[in-house]
Amino acid sequence: MSNKFYVTTPIYYPSGRFHIGTAYTTVLADSMKQYHQLKGEDAYMLTGTDEHGQKIEEKAKEAGKTPKEYVDEMAKMAKELWAKMKIEYDDFIQTTEERHEKMVQKIFNRFMEQGDIYKGEYEGWYCIPCETFFTQTQLVDGKCPDCGREVKLMKEESYFFHMKKYADRLLKYYEEHPDFIKPDYRKNEMINNFIKPGLEDLCVTRTSFDWGIKVLKDPKHIIYVWLDALTNYITALGYLSEDQDLFNKYWPADLQIVGKDIARFHLIYWPIFLMALDLPLPKTILVHNWIMMKDGKMSKSKGNVIYPETLIERYGLDSVRYFLLREMPVSQDGIFSPEAFIERYNFDLCNDLSNLLNRTVSMVNKYFNGNVPEYNGTPNEVDKEFEEYTSEQIEKFEEKWNHYEVANSIQEIWNLIARTNKYIDETMPWALAREEQTEKLESCMYHLIENLRKIAILIKPFMKDTADNIFRQIGIKEQDMKNWKNLIEYDKIKNIKVIEKGEPIFMRLNGEEEIEFLKNIMKK
Ligand code: ME8
Ligand code: MG
Repeated sequence: MSNKFYVTTPIYYPSGRFHIGTAYTTVLADSMKQYHQLKGEDAYMLTGTDEHGQKIEEKAKEAGKTPKEYVDEMAKMAKELWAKMKIEYDDFIQTTEERHEKMVQKIFNRFMEQGDIYKGEYEGWYCIPCETFFTQTQLVDGKCPDCGREVKLMKEESYFFHMKKYADRLLKYYEEHPDFIKPDYRKNEMINNFIKPGLEDLCVTRTSFDWGIKVLKDPKHIIYVWLDALTNYITALGYLSEDQDLFNKYWPADLQIVGKDIARFHLIYWPIFLMALDLPLPKTILVHNWIMMKDGKMSKSKGNVIYPETLIERYGLDSVRYFLLREMPVSQDGIFSPEAFIERYNFDLCNDLSNLLNRTVSMVNKYFNGNVPEYNGTPNEVDKEFEEYTSEQIEKFEEKWNHYEVANSIQEIWNLIARTNKYIDETMPWALAREEQTEKLESCMYHLIENLRKIAILIKPFMKDTADNIFRQIGIKEQDMKNWKNLIEYDKIKNIKVIEKGEPIFMRLNGEEEIEFLKNIMKK
């Protein structure tokens, strides 16, 4: 296994407030980064904003600002949200930065010189909100096949990228690299819907508006926003610049996460651009589905939008991060509903996790004055079985997480939490205390604390504050004991003391009231 991990999110269109769908990708990427970092790898995460194009130009005009003023404000807003969500990105790229624009021009030049880009005339349809070209036959009822909105007829002198030339190489690459596209079915979609029917050359410049990167050798042409945007993953690392250290260290990316609507750009155009640049392709591109509402897509006009800030302010960050990753299977759409959110909060976080911690801390206080007994080295039958179950769950978690079955992997942690709660009911510490079976009682307390420590390590990549809170309450101070390398074994903790009075990490909510609250918020 390599010891670096480079993960990227898409760069977002800064065209308004980010809703929980947008936050999903970023939380997922950050959690992946945290996980690899906890395993001792050199992890690096990139995110940013995609700031050129006709759509942004129009938005800025509406807001009475210059495009640059507008996008800078939006980028600031994005950074504030990521700070609130404790997203630990290493770099935030804005495509209007010089470090990006210059390199895009160089890349474009190289494509021209190589004959990958040629001049022609574009005639066809364009969807401004999607910044996408369509042929007549691709339209659905004369509208954009992706978003259903009106499209514009365009006829312009344009440059084209010779996609066709690379189609066979791309297919071969897919075939020889089974980990390149996750989940697998997305690969077949690309092959059957776009590559097999014949890959069209891509129009890569526009002339009818101004807000974008100019072609150096033909400045009335603006570089197509997707060619501009996709290259951010390498320009941010300094590709083609004077200092290419980051690029040499981190490229190819280990994981690039994108939503299903932009799969085509990342699974077809992006690898072809990289091939044309003679660069290695990312190891994995993970395509995730969408967070939907009961009545379909989230949209302001439908009045069903949920913003992450609202949830964070009322329920805390970790419940939001937990919900997004736990409720959304990467390979299918997930549904946000107030009912589901409150249920997860009350059951998974409060009943299962918070109560386990609380019961354990209070028993260690009651039976041993807060001092956690030491491991006795010879676990009895019950404890041994419990240890084995725990190791198996950790393995299952890792197996699924590493295959990007994130929701399922988190389920394995919650199975472990349930089993740990059940262990209390089985061993009945109160009876052990009454019968003065001290050895068994000691072993029971030890195992509970150990399992809480392990659970805290497991959730740390996506629920950092909660993990730290658990460590604090059970008295784990040593950094080493909070680390992945000390995850599996028992007999690790010595001389620790739980806090005197446990504090609930999640308080039970009044379900009906909160569901009402969320429903009202969504209407605003
Ligand atoms: O596409 N659930 O930017 P964007 C989950 N600028 N994910 C969602 C979602 C939802 N309800 N709604 C949107 C762009 N997303 C381009 C990217 S990359 C070189 C350029 C996801 O702001 C969406 O699928 O429109 C996409 O991955 C991301 O949010 C950014 O969307
Ligand atoms: Mg979009």
